[in-house]
Order: sequence, then C-alpha cells, then structure tokens
Amino acid sequence: MTPIKETIINCKTDINPIWIMRQAGRYLPEFREIRKINTDFIKLCLNEKLSAEITLQPLKRFNFDAAIIFSDILMIPYGLNQKVEFKKDFGPILGDLDLNNISKLNESDFVEKISPVYKAINLVSKNELTNNKSTIGFVGAPWTLLVYMINKQSPKKSLKKDFYRDKSLISNILNILEKFLKIHIKNQINSGAEIIQIFDSWAGLLNEKNIPEYIYSPTLNLVDYTKSLKTPVICFPRGIKDYKQYCDIVKPDAICIDYDVDPIKILKEIKIPVQGGMDPKVLLTNKENLEKETKRYLDIFKDHPYIFNLGHGVLPETDPNMMDYLVNTVKNY
Ligand code: CP3
Repeated sequence: MTPIKETIINCKTDINPIWIMRQAGRYLPEFREIRKINTDFIKLCLNEKLSAEITLQPLKRFNFDAAIIFSDILMIPYGLNQKVEFKKDFGPILGDLDLNNISKLNESDFVEKISPVYKAINLVSKNELTNNKSTIGFVGAPWTLLVYMINKQSPKKSLKKDFYRDKSLISNILNILEKFLKIHIKNQINSGAEIIQIFDSWAGLLNEKNIPEYIYSPTLNLVDYTKSLKTPVICFPRGIKDYKQYCDIVKPDAICIDYDVDPIKILKEIKIPVQGGMDPKVLLTNKENLEKETKRYLDIFKDHPYIFNLGHGVLPETDPNMMDYLVNTVKNY
C-alpha cells in the first residue's frame, strides 16, 4: 500500500508522506516553459500528453508521495458548456449561465468533452514515476463550483450582492453538479486515481446558517459516493469555521486544514487523519524558518496520522530549492 493510503486507511503515524497542492505549477520553470507556448489553459488541460507530463514534473525533482493530476476544478463548468477562460493576472472568467442548455446535457457528451483528463490520469498512474505513490484525482465541491458558476469570477472576499436571488437556479445547479461530479469522480477512479480530494476553496464565504444546505449535504453525498467506490476521500473546506463539526457530519476519510486554523486545536478535536496546514508563505522566508515551521507541524501530529501538505496551494513565487528543502526536512524527520 502507498504511504498516503497507509496513513489514511491504516492510520499509520510513523511515516511522513508529503504532497503539495499545486505542486505542478508556476513555481517550476519547466512548467512555465510549457505554459508560455500553451496560452489557453483549458486547452492545455485537455492535452493528455502535456497534462500528464506537467503532472509528473514535480515527481522528477522531489520525493513526493503523490501525483495530483494537472487539471482544474473549473473543467466541470466547462464540461457543462459554460464558457471558462483564464485571464493572465486576473484568474478565471466564466460566461453566462444558461440553465436550459446545461439541463439538456447528457453523460456521454460531458464525458466526451473532458475525456483527455481521464486519459492523462491513465498515463500518469501507469508511469514508473508513480510506483509506490498515490495518483490523486479531485473535484471542486458543489458549493465552490456554484460560486464560480454564478459569480463568474473569483469572489475574492465576498459574493455579488444578488448571489442568492434565484433560489431555484441555485438548487437546480446543485443537483446538476451532484450528478456530473459523481460521473467525474467515477471516471477518474476508473482511469487510475486512487484517492479523491474535494476542494471547497470558498467554504469560508458562507454564513453559518447556510452551511448545512450548501456544504454539508451536497458534500456528504459525494463523500458517500466516493467511499462506495472503495476509494479514500480527503476534504479541504478552506476557511470553514468549525472543522470538527464538518468532520462529524461530512465524514471524509481525511481532512485537509488551511493555514488559518490552529493545528493544536485540530489535534485535540479531530480523530481522523489530518493533512496540510502550513502557510505557503513560509516557503518565501528562509531555510531556518522553513525547517522550524515544518517541524512544528510534524511535532504536533507525531502521534496522529498526518500527511504533510500546505494550508493552500504553493505560491508561484516559491523558489524550487525551498521546496526541495521542505521535502527533505519531512523525509528526514
Ligand atoms: O494541485 C495541483 O497541482 C493540481 C492541479 C490544480 C490546479 N487547480 C491547477 C491550476 C488543482 C487541484 C486546482 C484546483 C483549483 N482551481 C481550485 C481549488 C484549490 C484552490 O486553489 O483554492 C480553484 C479555486 C481553482 C480555480 C482556479 N484555477 C483559479 C482561481 C486559478 C487562477 C489562480 C491563479 O493563481 O492565477 C486557476 C488556474 C490554475 N489552476 C493554475 C494551475 C496550475 C495556474 C495556471 C497558470 O496560469 O499557469
């Protein structure tokens, strides 16, 4: 069994697996080189050979325990026929949401549109660089995808004023998302993904009273579905205030924590395997501080099943030498 699975399934505490969110990305010069000549991000994600190559780039450099497939959570709105573009220095921009159009979509059209993602997973999971490592597939949580689909761009700190105006649109979209996210999860697993991570990057934007309807219930359905396919599922509800309640209700196999939460409080409250936590900005400081902060997390979780990761994606300005230092610190702990 791979180290990450040992940690999640067998709750081993004496190994320290590590992978990093956005480990394949702009902090790597070899990624920037490919990206420079592939200016359309969606097209790049739909090029199975390049997508597999980018996924494997960090594994050639660092002793990571997982490959996370190079794709994006916004491939789902794209697959549902909503226009998705990525503008440099701005982020994603989505087109108008046409419920009629989305409602008409069937499974085979959707799968056909994003099938290179599955082919890339297949190439990655068969590559010898992933021997004894986990291939991680992922989806955006229904709430976070809803935010992008209605808000049509990153919400930064708050949602558009009329976000909740059309309640029936929201419930229709959530239902459609549940159906197609299940399809996406199933196809990733059938193509070689051994673990699924659910990214809920905007969980922190919701009022407490709306959390059961928009986060707990739809995410629990996906978690139960993934478990029914005998595949471990990690959830990352970034910015959620009450991680304990989230774990009690949604019951993921492991929980990924963000950098705003106190890891000591998490250790006290949460019984399931934990992943992540360290602030990505620590990698922008110096080796001494990086080692100190890394060991702080490893010390806190030394008797708890723990997968090292950051509390959000690695920043583009990170020096790859600092990533190397981080991986060695974890591996030599
Ligand atoms: O973690 C990985 O290495 C796997 C690949 C991955 C990407 N995006 C590649 C990517 C994953 C898992 C994601 C998830 C994702 N995408 C999330 C959830 C995690 C999070 O970061 O909160 C979100 C919210 C998105 C939507 C998205 N995609 C945004 C907001 C952006 C622009 C952000 C930015 O930093 O400019 C993207 C683009 C994106 N997705 C890049 C990468 C490597 C940058 C692409 C580039 O411009 O070269």
